[in-house]
Amino acid sequence: MFNRVLHTEDSVLAAVRESAITAGMPAIEVSAQHGKLLSLLATVSGATRVLEIGTLAGYSTINLARGVGESGRVSTLEYDPRHAEVARANFAAAGVVDRIEVIVGAALDTLPTLAGRAERYDFFFIDADKENNSAYLEWALRLATPGALIVVDNITRMGRVLDPAPDDLQARGVRDMLELMGAHPRLQTAAIQTVGTKGWDGFAVAVVGS
Ligand SMILES: C[S@@+](CC[C@H](N)C(=O)[O-])C[C@H]1O[C@@H](n2cnc3c(N)ncnc32)[C@H](O)[C@@H]1O
Repeated sequence: MFNRVLHTEDSVLAAVRESAITAGMPAIEVSAQHGKLLSLLATVSGATRVLEIGTLAGYSTINLARGVGESGRVSTLEYDPRHAEVARANFAAAGVVDRIEVIVGAALDTLPTLAGRAERYDFFFIDADKENNSAYLEWALRLATPGALIVVDNITRMGRVLDPAPDDLQARGVRDMLELMGAHPRLQTAAIQTVGTKGWDGFAVAVVGS
């Protein structure tokens, strides 16, 4: 109902969602409302340089690219070359290919290459393998401008994050990252739980201090 009443998902984004299904990719992109929120957050924060970890078919990436506008740039890190290929085609179809760079490889291998660049990032979206969330958070802090926003997806794991089983590496990865966020002197963080098309879900939003 919200998507219909608020006209949240246009034909371009609907086609991205379809492209993932057609390519046999898992339906694990953000919801339409979450995608729109990412776009709005990028816009209201005045973000110009976005770093995303976890591209899939590029649904969230296109929202972020729209949020930063024509003069903004989004770098997105993706492990699977097939996902990257589908995403690149979607970026072209969405008319935002010029503002997006896809970097293929395991993020923990490609993030160090970004540290060697002069540019820093004012917006992060972390949405890949949850086991590495704490490491991704540390990298975001290393690559962030003061005042940068860090958004991390899927922080509830359907409630498993409350008391993760020892062998539940995803829930444990999320829990460890949240504890790191809470203890970190440079971060102020809010954790938002959501109920919607993705079930019981949620995301964290943090601001990086100087
Ligand atoms: C949840 S999906 C991303 C969804 C996307 N952010 C969206 O909302 O449209 C996670 C993606 O992260 C990728 N991924 C998993 N492990 C990774 C790693 N170690 N490095 C980079 N990407 C990884 C997966 O291949 C998958 O495409």
